[in-house]
Amino acid sequence: MVNSDDDKGEMKTNRYRKIVEHCGTPTFIYSEKTLKGNVQRIKRALDDASLADRVDIYAAYFTNSHPRLFEILAEQGIGATLQGVEEYHQLHSWGLKLPLVVSPTCLSDKDLEFFLDKQLQVNVSLPEELEYALQGASNTGVRLDLSAEQRQRTGLKIDELDEIKQICRRLKKQVHAIHTYPGTGSNFQKLVKHAEDVFKVYKKHFSGVKEINLGGGFAFDYDADSTEDKHFPWREYFAKLASLIDQFQIPNNVRISIEPGRDIFADAGEFLVSVNRVHTRRGIQQVYTDGSYVFMPSATIRERQHNIRIYDEHFREVEDRSGSAELNGCTTLSSDFLFPGIVRAPVHIQKGSYILVQDIGAYGSCQHMEFLNKRPAAEVLVTNEGVLQLITESGNPTDKIRYALCNPKLIG
Ligand SMILES: Cc1ncc(COP(=O)(O)O)c(C=O)c1O
Repeated sequence: MVNSDDDKGEMKTNRYRKIVEHCGTPTFIYSEKTLKGNVQRIKRALDDASLADRVDIYAAYFTNSHPRLFEILAEQGIGATLQGVEEYHQLHSWGLKLPLVVSPTCLSDKDLEFFLDKQLQVNVSLPEELEYALQGASNTGVRLDLSAEQRQRTGLKIDELDEIKQICRRLKKQVHAIHTYPGTGSNFQKLVKHAEDVFKVYKKHFSGVKEINLGGGFAFDYDADSTEDKHFPWREYFAKLASLIDQFQIPNNVRISIEPGRDIFADAGEFLVSVNRVHTRRGIQQVYTDGSYVFMPSATIRERQHNIRIYDEHFREVEDRSGSAELNGCTTLSSDFLFPGIVRAPVHIQKGSYILVQDIGAYGSCQHMEFLNKRPAAEVLVTNEGVLQLITESGNPTDKIRYALCNPKLIG
């Protein structure tokens, strides 16, 4: 609903009203237009840098593991990064066909076998896995820890590279790809330096590989005001990447891939909650909502505030921000706020009004916790044409898992 002109004003608030009438709150709301726009932003930047034929995009599935959303991404011609067998089954059960790459932490022989059997490329992160995978597959990649501290939980360390070479020599096999992950929320400078480091390692140790996977981690600025300022500076990044590819003379037949998650999903999702009660204590309005930390834990874990919009009970937007408030969740957990800290809010927030938490499309609903027994929230997709599709049903009081609907239901 955000970020598009025709979604402003009355049309938008009518949609919220309809959504609330149909599924109540709390509800996650996604915009197909924004999701597609986020992919197109990356693709345009690739085009501008003449890298469109060179770079493959695999969106990290766990960022928002709703197959309906990945169906939209598949239509945009991008693939998905998986890290576990269940994820494969989820996409498969939807009949979704899209390019897949597996970038896990550590897989059992059984799970590794599962992916190898499907002829999927697995970026393994332990010498033992490499030994196992190379015996059967010709497209195995290795996940490398290139951090200065060499303390990433996952990834082969620099001092293990000789062991990797020995395994390849002994089995007379080659590693197909190198994969790296710089850490989530990495800024432009860090990711340019990361690409440079990866290319150096490619030149020195892995000049025979056919793919260089630069991973995800592309920062999204939740505090910025404009959409473009929030998103990762893709155009500048790919321009720099193109010059590094030239500088390091990476051959044309070596594919480059990236695995963005947050930047693709973040502003494509919102979370709508109701205000159940308001009580002012020591000058700060304690706003008790039907939302909770358990629906969107990452904001609290990462100590991140989100922009909010506030609507009265008739869905008229309330612009006043001269008061302050804490946004409480509805469970007994002592730290249950939608996100931590005091927010600027209307002087008098009314019981029965609504709060819309913005930019919660990434690592939001997919992190819903069973702890504290809140039934999962409903999820609604606003299609390009403005049609409302219920894509996840809110559970019954005894339910605990996300009810992703194979066949979305129309609302309205
Ligand atoms: C292997 C891998 N690829 C991609 C991602 C996506 O990262 P982000 O959402 O920060 O872009 C992650 C995130 O943890 C990851 O572990």
